[in-house]
Amino acid sequence: MTNFSFLLPVLALSISLVFAVDASTLQDFCVTNPIGQGNSECKDPKLVGANDFFFSGIHIAGNTTNPSGSKVTPVFASQLPGLNTLGISIARIDIAPWGINPPHTHPRATEIFTVLEGTLEVGFITSNPDNRHFTKVLQKGDVFVFPIGLIHYQRNIGYDNVVALVALSSQNPGVITIGNAVFGATPEISSDVLTKAFQLDKNTINYLQSKF
Ligand SMILES: *[C@@H]1O[C@H](CO)[C@@H](O)[C@H](O)[C@H]1NC(C)=O
Repeated sequence: MTNFSFLLPVLALSISLVFAVDASTLQDFCVTNPIGQGNSECKDPKLVGANDFFFSGIHIAGNTTNPSGSKVTPVFASQLPGLNTLGISIARIDIAPWGINPPHTHPRATEIFTVLEGTLEVGFITSNPDNRHFTKVLQKGDVFVFPIGLIHYQRNIGYDNVVALVALSSQNPGVITIGNAVFGATPEISSDVLTKAFQLDKNTINYLQSKF
């Protein structure tokens, strides 16, 4: 009998190469609920129906009465189970006049942003060391893209509400809001780290931590 065990590392490497890129689906769909992380079992296809691929409510304006003046209504796999394993999702963004969607990143998705109503300023910042800031004023009908992982923001600079529809290249894009992550971590990041990192005094850091 021939021993093929020497092939095992090669096999393992090819498998890891296969999974280094976006996994392609091997079936029509894999409806899951309610977590939407892509690692739970698929719902029995015989029990799947049209409603598993359906979400209603993207026409409803989000409540922007909050400190940032904006609201995101996500339609990710956790809201629409049929998105599971498909690598795509959508969200509605409402921004009140002079409100902002604060600087944040999506660790798992590129975002393509379409303005349905209003006028806003958008921007994103590139990686170190350049930290280039790309910014643009958008009007109704304009489309802008935020590359995966980069910090970006939006600000309504008009007197009317902004309504935008965004598509994301993940069923579960994730959101890291910079201020919340840095100043609102649980348990908190030592103020010694933050005073040095931001070159601010301890009182200012404590104040910022109390805000988040
Ligand atoms: C919007 O949110 C604010 C603050 O939480 C709340 O007071 C208000 O009732 C909400 N408005 C609607 C229409 O739900």
